[in-house]
Amino acid sequence: MTKIRVYQLAKKLGMSSKELMTKLHELDVNIESHMNTLEDEVVDLLTELINEEKDSKGKNNSNSKKSNVKDKREEMQTEKNIIHIGKKITVKDLADKIKVNPTQLISQLIALGVMAAINQEIDFDTASIVASEYGYEVKSIQVEEEENEKIEEDLLDFEDDPETLQPRPPIVTVMGHVDHGKTSLLDAIRKTNVTAREAGGITQHIGASTVIVNDKKIVFLDTPGHEAFTSMRARGAQVTDIAVLVVAADDGVMPQTVEAINHAKAANVPIIVAVNKIDKYEANPERVKQELAEHGLLPEEWGGDTIFVPVSALKKQGIDELLEMILLVAEMQELKANPNRKAMGTIIEAKLDKGRGPVATVIVQKGTLNVGDAVIAGTAHGRIRAMIDDKGKRIKKATPSMPVEILGLSEVPDAGEHLYVVENDKKAREIAENRKEKLRTEQLKATQKVSLDALFEQI
Ligand code: GTP
Ligand code: MG
Repeated sequence: MTKIRVYQLAKKLGMSSKELMTKLHELDVNIESHMNTLEDEVVDLLTELINEEKDSKGKNNSNSKKSNVKDKREEMQTEKNIIHIGKKITVKDLADKIKVNPTQLISQLIALGVMAAINQEIDFDTASIVASEYGYEVKSIQVEEEENEKIEEDLLDFEDDPETLQPRPPIVTVMGHVDHGKTSLLDAIRKTNVTAREAGGITQHIGASTVIVNDKKIVFLDTPGHEAFTSMRARGAQVTDIAVLVVAADDGVMPQTVEAINHAKAANVPIIVAVNKIDKYEANPERVKQELAEHGLLPEEWGGDTIFVPVSALKKQGIDELLEMILLVAEMQELKANPNRKAMGTIIEAKLDKGRGPVATVIVQKGTLNVGDAVIAGTAHGRIRAMIDDKGKRIKKATPSMPVEILGLSEVPDAGEHLYVVENDKKAREIAENRKEKLRTEQLKATQKVSLDALFEQI
């Protein structure tokens, strides 16, 4: 005959093992652990006694037995402390949540047949059983998680009704080998002088800037030419509509030129070649064409479809023609977005500013981003406190394709993370917490595993 254990009976009677143990002691039944099995007679006696207690309570309140049970349940629900956990939780985190000493919790787990160290994980069922011993009810956050994931998917994949779409400026990424003149070319376009200000002349991050050509806006992203920035450059291509490949006419195709071609091709982005430094004596634009043709970029005059524009960033030659070509290619793409929806964008760079806290540059891709919006980006969340455009001006709204600096995030997000607006701060925090929990779980999963077989064997 199968015997029932204390904790199993407690669960059946809707009470904690502790309460049941107290009852047993009152009845002079000597029980040391809730893992002990109980004699049939004791079980009968206890069940009877507890039901009687419930009955008498019901009579006092002149309620029916049925509603009494219901009341009791509701009472328990409100009385019981409810905690939310994911599929797994570390012993330490659970101890924190139910406010017990981790060592005590470990002993409880051992009593249940689960050997777990303080930093090890136990699964949802085990956590529920031990937590119930302390009067806590455990609820799964998985449902919430799934709900949030659904929100994310909806936001990212949400296709806007074609009628809601409006033209947006092209986002152009300037790519190419180190020192081939990307920043200088952008300087010539912006007519400012960023190169002189950069430490050592090497672009350290993706700078974003907006220029107006013939009343039309173009957004430019500068990318670093150093090898260490390969992954960031790959991300640069993801928000890009057009890639301008800068190749120095005196140097020709170099490793990072090829890399840039591959990134642009992988992102399915049209490439416009700017053959730079044509002012130089050693310049050989024909050689550049030859070398690029070998990488699948065939110039129009050779029967291909790649636009080549000879330029000199230094002498500001060919700049207008290059801009014209960019607008032409952009026009063919018919770039559109719905500005009247919750915003979604991509973080292109982020840093921790001493005075202002986490600062991130975002390219808005859909919708309009507003000061005051609750946002999430990776595990960073927050309410947008302020927005600054590429000219350093404070703005209240950012429409599709606009690069903006945002303040108000809880932490520095990674470049390449999607940023999107959610209904409120609470939701943003919740999604961030869930993502953090998930990350933690994944990290732990890689190092530790706890078997619950022992527990199931005993039940
Ligand atoms: P990274 O950001 O380090 O990848 O470099 P970059 O591609 O942005 O090159 P940058 O604009 O910093 O230019 C590198 C050097 O080339 C600088 O000394 C420029 O003055 C020089 N340079 C750029 N464009 C031209 C040009 O058209 N003609 C000549 N003669 N020199 C140029
Ligand atoms: Mg540069």
